[in-house]
Amino acid sequence: MSSGLPPHGGNLSQEAFRLGLRPAQLLDASASLVPFRPPADLRRALKRAIGGSALRDYPDREQRQLRQAIARFHGLQPEAVLPGNGAAELFTWAARDAAACGVSGVPDPGFADYRRALACWGGAVISLPLELSWTRTWPQPWPFQGGLEQSCQVLWITNPHNPTGQLWSRASLEPLLQSYSLVICDEAFLPLVPEGEVQSLLPLVETHPNLVVIRSLTKLLAIAGLRLGYAVASPERLQHWQRWRDPWPVNGLALAAGRSVMADQSGMHRWLQRVQAWVAQEGNWFHQRLIDLPAVSPMPSSANYLLIRGEDSLLELRERVARQRVLLRDCRSFIGLGDSWLRIGLQDRRGNRRILKALKKELS
Ligand SMILES: Cc1ncc(COP(=O)(O)O)c(C=O)c1O
Repeated sequence: MSSGLPPHGGNLSQEAFRLGLRPAQLLDASASLVPFRPPADLRRALKRAIGGSALRDYPDREQRQLRQAIARFHGLQPEAVLPGNGAAELFTWAARDAAACGVSGVPDPGFADYRRALACWGGAVISLPLELSWTRTWPQPWPFQGGLEQSCQVLWITNPHNPTGQLWSRASLEPLLQSYSLVICDEAFLPLVPEGEVQSLLPLVETHPNLVVIRSLTKLLAIAGLRLGYAVASPERLQHWQRWRDPWPVNGLALAAGRSVMADQSGMHRWLQRVQAWVAQEGNWFHQRLIDLPAVSPMPSSANYLLIRGEDSLLELRERVARQRVLLRDCRSFIGLGDSWLRIGLQDRRGNRRILKALKKELS
């Protein structure tokens, strides 16, 4: 990043080192992961895989069983699914296609990794500036309607948007497929959003070869360290990506863990219910408590993270809160957000209380 700031949150070990602490002493609300332990079934699958041959053997290069489990879960054909080493790896290949199609339109402030991926291939980018105020009604219409087609051929959509937490309506996204050579829709956080799934573009992939949908399992299953995501797109497109990438991009443990959770459909639905109930309940509770704090305003969010805005710079507040062992996301690396913004990843009640206590102490 030209700013020299880390482009992502979740820099737990660096921050712990800087603060002279151990990572376990910090509450990391700079990343936005589900605060529960990964599903028990997944942990058991990992144990079995370690006890078996997953550490020794090369992983299946075609990821057949995982592809099948994901495809069955979404009612797709396995050839339309490509697992990756997190969603981030798959952006690299989506960006290669994007660079070949022309100029990419990327909403700002937005997830920095799209630009990283486009830069790999010299892909041209134009910034689509989002309004920095929005209401609390979900879903909302995609804000860039009409006229953009002249300046960009590719559109990158994040649904729900990161860092704002806005949920875009499928009805407003669907017509975009007629206007752009390629639409890349990052649905990394969509399964966490209460009633978010109805806004997904997944059902449109089969009939629209110019659509790529990317999902992440790292936030949903709290496995950011294991790394797992998947792309859904036309089989022809995914065959190209498979030829371009490293020979073994998804390791044997991630394959085993992903296969076991995705194949257990009722277990996965129970997990989704639990996660969405947490976002609905804790999200409201936390937002209400933040409203009561002086000098900062919480922004509405449909997702498990939200932005707070200060009248002046919040950097000193962030540092003082960090000294109280709570990490919040510095937003200066988001284009269009400056030092008066911080992003907070939702925690369980105990964690949210800890964040509020630290903020209250430093703001009073
Ligand atoms: C919007 C968005 N998409 C994708 C990712 C990357 O997901 P993964 O951990 O699966 O690579 C992130 C990570 O923060 C994100 O914020």
